Amino acid sequence: MEHTWKNKKLYETLIEEKVINSGQLDRIVEDYKKITQDLNIINPHSSELYSLKSWNASEILALWKNAFETRQVGKSIDLYVNVPFCENEKKCSFCMYSSIHKHDAEKIGSYLKILLEMIRTYQPVFEHVKFNSLYFGGGTPNMLNANQMDELFSVLFDNFKLLNSQVEKTFENSPGLFSREKIDLLVKYGFNRVSFGVQSFEEDVLKNVKRDYYSPDYIKYIVGYCKKMNIRDVNVDLMLGLKGQTKEKFVKSLIRAFEAQPDTVTVYVYRHISKDLTDIEAKERYLISFFSDFVFPTLSEAYQISEDYGYFNTGNHLIECQHFVRKNRKKFVNRYRTQPFIQEKNSCLGLGAGSRSYINSPNYMLKYNMDIKSYSANSLQDTTFKGDELGPDAVMRVYAREELYRHRKINLTEFKRIFECDFTEKFRYELYCLQHLEKVKINGSILELELNNKVEFGMLLKFFYTKTDIDRYLNILSKRAKN
Ligand SMILES: C[S@@+](CC[C@H](N)C(=O)[O-])C[C@H]1O[C@@H](n2cnc3c(N)ncnc32)[C@H](O)[C@@H]1O
Ligand code: SF4
Repeated sequence: MEHTWKNKKLYETLIEEKVINSGQLDRIVEDYKKITQDLNIINPHSSELYSLKSWNASEILALWKNAFETRQVGKSIDLYVNVPFCENEKKCSFCMYSSIHKHDAEKIGSYLKILLEMIRTYQPVFEHVKFNSLYFGGGTPNMLNANQMDELFSVLFDNFKLLNSQVEKTFENSPGLFSREKIDLLVKYGFNRVSFGVQSFEEDVLKNVKRDYYSPDYIKYIVGYCKKMNIRDVNVDLMLGLKGQTKEKFVKSLIRAFEAQPDTVTVYVYRHISKDLTDIEAKERYLISFFSDFVFPTLSEAYQISEDYGYFNTGNHLIECQHFVRKNRKKFVNRYRTQPFIQEKNSCLGLGAGSRSYINSPNYMLKYNMDIKSYSANSLQDTTFKGDELGPDAVMRVYAREELYRHRKINLTEFKRIFECDFTEKFRYELYCLQHLEKVKINGSILELELNNKVEFGMLLKFFYTKTDIDRYLNILSKRAKN
C-alpha cells in the first residue's frame, strides 16, 4: 500500500522510538476499519473496552474508605439509588436500562432487604458525607408501594445524615403507578424533583414500543397535583426517534407535554440498542440519516414551537438529551451526573442492583456497576460488583474521549492545566494515526476533529483507547462474528 506521509518528522521519530514500525500503518488503517464496525459507535464509555474485575461488598467499601483517606474522592459526590423493577411484564422495546419484569411482592421485598443492608454497610464511611444530589432511578422507582418507600427513605435519611439539606432530590415515576399517597410521602422526605416517563402521547407509537398510553388530561392532573404539593421541579420525559414516530407526531406530543405545564420537558433522542441493527454498514448509514434527516430538523422545529408555549431550550450541547424549561423558571440546574467529568472531579455512590458508581480525580478513577443479576442474592456479601480502576493514563484517555464526544474538540491548555502534561506529547501515536487519516487539525491551543459526517466522531474517538483495549475489543468482535 502506498502512503503519503503527512508528518514526516513525527513519523521518523515514532519509528526511531519504536512507537510504530514501518509495516504498522497498514495495520492502523485495517484496525480503524474494524473498530468503526462497533455496534455501539457513539458511546465513549463503552464498557466492553475495559477489563471488568469483580469485587464483593467489603472490597468495594475498602476502596471508598481508602479513597476518602487518600483524598482521591473528588469535590462533589452524587448519590444514586436504583429500583430495577418495572410494571409491565414486557420490557419497553427501546429501553437501554437493566430492568426486571418478572417479579412478585416477595422478590421486591427481598431486594429491599439487600438495599437496606447496603445503606447500613456504607453508613460508617458516608454518614457525614455532604452529597450534591440524590437520584432514585431504575427501572421504575414508584413500583415500590408507599410502605416500602417509607421504610427505605427513613433508613436512608437516618444513616446518611447530610442528605437532609436542600440538595436536589429526584424520584423517577411511571404515570401508571402514580398515587397521591406516594407523592405526599416524597414531599414529606424533602424530594424536590419528580420525573414522569411519558415518552409519547401517540397511542400507535407507544404500541409499537410495547408501552402503555396515558391521556393528556391524566398527565395534566398528575403534574398539577405535584405542583399543588409544591414540588419545585416536575419533569416529563419524551423520546424522539421511536418506531413509527414522524416529525409531526413528535411535535404533537411535545405540545401536549407543554400543555400539561411541567417545569421541564426532557427530550431523549433514541439511542439505538444493539438488537436494532446488526448489519454494521447499514447501521452507520442509518444513523447518519437518522440524525441529519430526522433528529436535527425535528429538534429545530421543537425549539421554535417551545417559544409559543412559554418554554425555552437550555441549549445542551449533548444532542441526545434536550431540556425545555418553563420561562417563568429563572434558572435550571440538573445536578445529578450520570457520567464522571474529570474536570469537575465529581464522584457518585450507587446503591442497588444495576447502579453505577465512580470515584473520580485526575489521577484515579474507579468505575463499577452492581451486577443486576445479584438482585436475587441472599445477602449483600453474595452480590458482585463489576468494574475497573483506572490510573492516570486511562483517566487522560477517558477525558480525551469525553471531550471529543461532547465538543469534537480538545482545549490543549486546559488539558495541561488539569493533567500537568502536554496532550500532543502524551498522545503522539494517536495523533499520528488521526493525521494520517486527515481527520484532525490543530489551531493554536484547540485540537479539532475534521469530520465527513455527524456521527464519524464516535468512531474516531476510539483511537483514544489503548492498544490492549482495542485488541481485546477486536477479539470480542471476532468471537461475535463466529457465533
Ligand atoms: C430509567 S428510564 C425510565 C423511567 C421509567 N421506568 C419510565 O419508563 O418512565 C429514564 C428515561 O430514559 C429514557 N430512555 C430509555 N431508553 C432509552 C434509549 N434507548 N434511548 C434514549 N433514551 C432512553 C426514557 O425517556 C426514560 O423515561
Ligand atoms: S423504559 Fe422504564 S418502564 Fe420501560 S423497560 Fe425501561 S425502565 Fe422499564
